[in-house]
Amino acid sequence: MRKIPALLDHYSNPRNVGSLPKTDVNVGTGLVGAPACGDVMKLQIRVDPNTNEIVDVRFKTFGCGSAIASSSYLTEMVRGMRIEEAEKIRNTEIARELCLPPVKLHCSMLAEDAIKSAIKDYRSKSRNVRPTIGLMG
Ligand code: FES
Ligand code: FES
Repeated sequence: MRKIPALLDHYSNPRNVGSLPKTDVNVGTGLVGAPACGDVMKLQIRVDPNTNEIVDVRFKTFGCGSAIASSSYLTEMVRGMRIEEAEKIRNTEIARELCLPPVKLHCSMLAEDAIKSAIKDYRSKSRNVRPTIGLMG
């Protein structure tokens, strides 16, 4: 049987679609838009505060097939990754894996922006809740 191209596979069978509870202090939410076309991506991660590992991840994307495939691929990539690693992901890695044509590069940029923004949200939430250990005692 011929292998289904990754782009088509992730577009027609997207992984990890859905939401995580925003009120959970270990959940970070990224909501980003692509200025080039107006598409929107919401990406949520749940982080284990002891290890900084991404233990769960969900997305909802209102956009083109390449944006949906990029977010689906990204969710598989970041599960189990530490947030310090995940924030280094470049959209070019996603675009290369999915063989996106140049006009669709901005679709993978949406996924890079979304994971960065979700990590930022997680960090600002956890800063407000947990005192920094260095400041205590
Ligand atoms: Fe709107 Fe991509 S341009 S779906
Ligand atoms: Fe705009 Fe894909 S995200 S065309």
